[in-house]
Amino acid sequence: MSENLADRFDQLSQLLVEGAEFWQPVPFKTEQLAWQKNYRPLWQALQRVGDEQLQRFEDDPEQAESWLAAWLPVTAIQQLSGIPATGQTAVSLPSTWGDHMPGRKWQQVCAFVSGVTIASPSHVLEWCAGKGHLARTISRLHQVSVTALEWQASLCEEGERLSRSQNTSVTAVTQDVLADSVCQHLQADSHVLALHACGDLHRRLIALATPEKMQRITLAPCCYHLTEQPVYQPLSRRGQQICADLQLWISREQLRLAVQETVTAPAYVRRQRRQASIWRLAFDLLRQTLQQDSQYLSMPSIPYGQLPAAFADFCLQQAEQLGCSIPGQTDFHHWLQQGEVRYRQVRLAEVVRHLYRRPLEVWLVLDRALALEEQGFSVALSTFCARELTPRNIVLSAHRP
Ligand SMILES: C[S@@+](CC[C@H](N)C(=O)[O-])C[C@H]1O[C@@H](n2cnc3c(N)ncnc32)[C@H](O)[C@@H]1O
Repeated sequence: MSENLADRFDQLSQLLVEGAEFWQPVPFKTEQLAWQKNYRPLWQALQRVGDEQLQRFEDDPEQAESWLAAWLPVTAIQQLSGIPATGQTAVSLPSTWGDHMPGRKWQQVCAFVSGVTIASPSHVLEWCAGKGHLARTISRLHQVSVTALEWQASLCEEGERLSRSQNTSVTAVTQDVLADSVCQHLQADSHVLALHACGDLHRRLIALATPEKMQRITLAPCCYHLTEQPVYQPLSRRGQQICADLQLWISREQLRLAVQETVTAPAYVRRQRRQASIWRLAFDLLRQTLQQDSQYLSMPSIPYGQLPAAFADFCLQQAEQLGCSIPGQTDFHHWLQQGEVRYRQVRLAEVVRHLYRRPLEVWLVLDRALALEEQGFSVALSTFCARELTPRNIVLSAHRP
């Protein structure tokens, strides 16, 4: 096992345990967090943060301002969560190869393939391929046949159509990667590529990575919280041991922190999210008063673009779902203002929580890297693009020496 990865994993485990009170509770759902009392000067200092500074924190939580170091291990956080760039020169591909791909996806694919080495011979597969954009690009770049595994038949059909029209050697296969039948596609010289395979989908890939089934893996994981397990189960033996020793238990909801970033969301989406958050908080404060309750109550989120036009309508809609009634004389304006005040407090608390976002993500990636090392792979970690292109920019490159 490489000392490097294992040491870093151990240090990050310690950091996450020591800072658990800062990142484990979810500020949106808890009005008074323990650290706000235990670290009162920190909480008071945050109250003085202006809107512009707050926006800077949110845009780039890793570039924590140095005054936070008086209370939080800012330097260790930055050192332990840094991952170097791939180090490969970006390949320049004909722009027509990006036809039928959304612009951002094409840029991600270009960046991802720049760091991929295809050994010869190898049997190349894309895991959870969608329309096979990555598969087609790899096939053209390296003149190899690629099997693209995807469970949605409609995406496979579209993938096949694109492959034919672009004359690439890609076979789209409708396959649930969680099913046993996926093994028929794996063999000793398989090189599996996975770009943004979510939680259990990439866990499955790692679980299957035996010598008879895989030689190489190039994986950019994402959505760690999309998992069946309510509490995080480390993939590596080292992770299992350290979590047991340090009593580090991470719930599915806490795992969400690792992917909570709005850096790539357009301004109108951010505005709508902000409004939805304020309304939810405001409604909950009203509900708590009406129902004489002091706990936040989670309500199903409203799909994008389906928020009612006015706050009062939103409250009536939510109240109806809960079966509670809102008195006719309710001063909605007052509750909206309360929601705005509460929203600012949530954002301030998130400044601290989000300092731990990248360390948690890197810790999760290291657990995957160590699991692969334990299965005999040699593993390198790098970032394949800037976070503005996709915040899920860490790639694990693993091969059997
Ligand atoms: C986040 S998308 C990534 C798609 C593609 N790799 C890309 O980067 O454009 C995840 C893909 O996994 C597919 N998927 C979800 N569950 C799956 C399963 N059990 N087996 C195979 N594919 C699955 C989805 O349909 C979706 O196309």
